[in-house]
Amino acid sequence: MPTPFIVAQISDFHLFADPAATLLEWPTEPSFRAVLEEAVACEPDLLLITGDLTQDGSPAAYRRIMSALEETGIRYCCLPGNHDDPEIMRDLMSTPAGPEIHIERLSNWHLLMLDSHVEGATHGRVHPDAIDQLNDVLDTLSQPVMIAVHHPPVKIGCKWIDGINLQRAAPLLDAVRSHPQVKLVLSGHVHQSFATSLGHAAIYTTPATSIQFKPGVDEFTLDDAAPGFRLVRLYSDGSHDSQVRRVPVSFAIDPTATGYE
Ligand SMILES: [Fe+2]
Repeated sequence: MPTPFIVAQISDFHLFADPAATLLEWPTEPSFRAVLEEAVACEPDLLLITGDLTQDGSPAAYRRIMSALEETGIRYCCLPGNHDDPEIMRDLMSTPAGPEIHIERLSNWHLLMLDSHVEGATHGRVHPDAIDQLNDVLDTLSQPVMIAVHHPPVKIGCKWIDGINLQRAAPLLDAVRSHPQVKLVLSGHVHQSFATSLGHAAIYTTPATSIQFKPGVDEFTLDDAAPGFRLVRLYSDGSHDSQVRRVPVSFAIDPTATGYE
């Protein structure tokens, strides 16, 4: 088997301007750094960050994240999530924005990144012009493609989350379905690992580097699973494999937490 292109997907850091701040008692900064260290130890070719880098949208938090990523010496690219400030991210990093998709070449694969941030909302939506652009790009590509979007375009079996995932997802799913070179769709947002498929494409979500949400429940419930990341290997023939790696940390969830904004 030839050498694969290795992607480490890390997601949902939820950092604050104050590195000592916590999210539902969870210290998001050290948790992010612990997961990043483990991801880097896997020697990926790309760090793919699928949104919610910050909880408060503060420039200070983005600057700390950027220095941590730059220090790894590994190529990286980022997507905005619902908690992010896309304008600050656009200024600091080359993130996709509204109708503009972002394209990265990964060996003979292409990574197509979509912005699903909706100002002031928790759910996501992809701009119709971005879907048009996606279809135009896919019509010209014969090589394997991976799509990344913060909000998953499918239900994951968690009622409270399924109400805040990607809305009006049908055009994106149609684009995936009608282009067999799309092999993978990766999302964050749901703070848990989930896997399904749509025809020839695998659809995955990844654990957060911060708090975890319990799978398969109707109401907001934290999970005591460790934070983690997803490691994806892309092979030149279009095949791929993927695994979630959990990173044990010494923090514990707040069992009384009933929700978060
Ligand atoms: Fe998140």
